[in-house]
Amino acid sequence: MNANPSCPAGTGTAAVDRRLVPITLDERSYDIHIGRGLLADDRSWDGLPKARCALVVSNETVAPLYLEAVTARLRGRYAQVLSVVLPDGEAYKGWDAIERIASTLLQAAADRKTVLFALGGGVIGDMTGFAAAIYMRGVPFVQIPTTLLAQVDSSVGGKTAINHVLGKNMLGAFYQPQRVIADLDTLKTLPDRELSAGLAEVIKYGPIADAEFLCWLEQHVDALRARDPESLAQAVQRSCEIKAWVVGQDERESGLRAILNFGHTFGHAIETGLGYGEWLHGEAVGCGMVMASDLSVRMGLMPAEFLARMTSLITRAGLPVKAPATLDVDRFMALMRVDKKAEDGEIRFVLIERLGRAVMRGAPDALVAEVIRQHCA
Ligand code: NAD
Ligand code: GLY
Repeated sequence: MNANPSCPAGTGTAAVDRRLVPITLDERSYDIHIGRGLLADDRSWDGLPKARCALVVSNETVAPLYLEAVTARLRGRYAQVLSVVLPDGEAYKGWDAIERIASTLLQAAADRKTVLFALGGGVIGDMTGFAAAIYMRGVPFVQIPTTLLAQVDSSVGGKTAINHVLGKNMLGAFYQPQRVIADLDTLKTLPDRELSAGLAEVIKYGPIADAEFLCWLEQHVDALRARDPESLAQAVQRSCEIKAWVVGQDERESGLRAILNFGHTFGHAIETGLGYGEWLHGEAVGCGMVMASDLSVRMGLMPAEFLARMTSLITRAGLPVKAPATLDVDRFMALMRVDKKAEDGEIRFVLIERLGRAVMRGAPDALVAEVIRQHCA
């Protein structure tokens, strides 16, 4: 893959309390709405596809907090408003959830215009998107992300998936939502550990696409952990702008989009190796970014200070920087060989070649092994 130019400065627009970031993909284009109080605001819901039936998919944690607020808005717009409340957790991101969604739709004779609403974090968003992609060969869906990770990454760009016991996100589809409604107020109820996990996906945008954003994050990481509303709004907007810029050029990851997986090759190995749910996805990505930064240094692409800088920021974000000792080099390598970016058994890594620019490269096994040994607790 060729080096990517850095992402240009902001493309989003800020209204009084609502920022709009467009995703430009021909007839699949849509807006990301970012702001406070969006669930209660008609402008979030106006102009969505018309249908008889809407189905809100959520989980046992999020539904008691926000399901009523969402269904109240939908009741005036759809004759039939259904909901499915799934068990909470990465361990439930599988076929059973898809069956539950499909059964609810079929029992209600929901037709192919039915609109699905994903209310929750990335797990709910990925599963609902996948269900929307395959129900009657595709029905419209809307993302209502309620975690920081989902607001800055998983709800945007149309990757949908469920897990297989042999690999994370191995079954899925590219399928774009009609809209993303990222209400920053929902982050008030998010546990601290989940907020930190979301910060991992925010941090990745700096080294891969925007060196200035990396500096901004170093200055604002404490404010972000304290949930300062303006800092959160800025972080979500800039993250979405960068993601929109990448996805707009490479929707189906034939090249550039792979840079969004900085830290994920090591990170997915941690998640799969430990069993889904032991470490949070963002925690694994945080540690994976430290390992990928080290590999960038060992490959001669970046100076040693880069690793120190990334380790410091990721630590300050409240994320682990040491991989679990239970994963040895052989296990790590075996897990990374089933990564979706692997080609003919060769592991491919997203590496940083200068701040704001990422490249996709293979790396000698010996160097990768050194990185694993260095960063296992
Ligand atoms: P998650 O969906 O499991 O949510 C984290 C936890 O927070 C859950 O317990 C959830 O119930 C709870 N929660 C959600 N919103 C809350 C709120 N407002 N208040 C209180 N609790 C709340 O995890 P996540 O970090 O949002 O997403 C991780 C998933 O996203 C992984 O499955 C990962 O593979 C996927 N992902 C997908 C993409 C993509 O492009 N599609 C990108 C990154 C990650
Ligand atoms: N989260 C990686 C991607 O959307 O491509």
